[in-house]
Amino acid sequence: MTEKKRILTGDTPTGRLHLGHWVGSVENRLALQEQYDCYFLIANKHAFTTRADRPADIRQSVLEIATDYLACGIDPQRSAIFIQSEVPAIDELTFYFSMLVPFNRVMRNPTLKDEIRDKGLGDNYPFGFPLYAVGQCADILAFRPQLVPVGEDQLPHLELSREVARRFDQMYCGVDPQTEDKDYVTAGGVFPVIQPKLGRVERLVGTGAPSAETGELLKMSKSLNNAIFLSDDAQTVTKKIRGMYTDPKRIRATDPGETDPRKNPLWAFHETFNPDTAWVDEHRQLYRNGKVGDVAVKNKLIEVINNLIDPIRTRRQHFEQRPDDVIDALRLGTRKANVIAEQTLQLAKTAMKQDYFPQRSVTLS
Ligand code: TRP
Repeated sequence: MTEKKRILTGDTPTGRLHLGHWVGSVENRLALQEQYDCYFLIANKHAFTTRADRPADIRQSVLEIATDYLACGIDPQRSAIFIQSEVPAIDELTFYFSMLVPFNRVMRNPTLKDEIRDKGLGDNYPFGFPLYAVGQCADILAFRPQLVPVGEDQLPHLELSREVARRFDQMYCGVDPQTEDKDYVTAGGVFPVIQPKLGRVERLVGTGAPSAETGELLKMSKSLNNAIFLSDDAQTVTKKIRGMYTDPKRIRATDPGETDPRKNPLWAFHETFNPDTAWVDEHRQLYRNGKVGDVAVKNKLIEVINNLIDPIRTRRQHFEQRPDDVIDALRLGTRKANVIAEQTLQLAKTAMKQDYFPQRSVTLS
């Protein structure tokens, strides 16, 4: 039996999906579900690292994200959308993996450091906070995926997963440390040294003004209040785009930086979302020369964004009225995820000589 190659990726449920998620990953996932066997994890346990006191919010976010996935066109019959906490093999692997990574190595992870700074955690974060980075290695490796599509900010986590895979395979499967990353499994390893796959746009800016400190535009993010959500209605999209920050210096034709998409979100959005590149090139020039103003360019953007979001919005309304369908999709996906994760756990335990009661029916895949 030839199987499709697997993909694993996930999101921490912190709220609804926005346009940054769309270009950073969702769009990519829709394309990949054609050729790969896809596993999309909703990392509800990771949400407890900072919101252990708000379980109802976490539950709500899980359902919102699942609804968003379905609204975007992820097909639950083909791709498994699943809940992390319902796949116990992930936890078991986390424990073993945590023995393979020096604590200091975990704390050097720049994504953790950024989170500690941005969320103002100081040194009051729980023990489970650094543990989540090891947990993410287990999220990934439990599926022995070929590819892991993520945003740029996740690369440090993926690097840790690569280190864990090498370490495990060398320590328990006798894989020679000289082996090339791509050959770990053929050399007898349980875990592949996984490859990240970045989205088309790694970091979409938000609708707001640049940071007062750095002068750079900020990343689109729910917590910065500069996001356009995939679930926003047409009026809300219109309002957000009308109120979007634009570069006040745009009229000065002598300044070559004035339509720089890194300075002006209006152009960053057109470049990212407007499929009519000829329109964008022409109007960028007109804008630079003061021949067309913010209003016209914003109106065009409203049209572009609403065209993108419209079908998502319609499907979202459909699923909002059928919450049981969302639960059924999650149940199906979680069942599928458990099959693979359990197989992986058995392979790992066998390699670690902790298979005391071997199951007769485990088949490889
Ligand atoms: N840490 C990721 C985020 O915050 C979510 C995540 C959890 C994830 N486990 C994963 C992403 C495994 C990719 C693979 O968005």
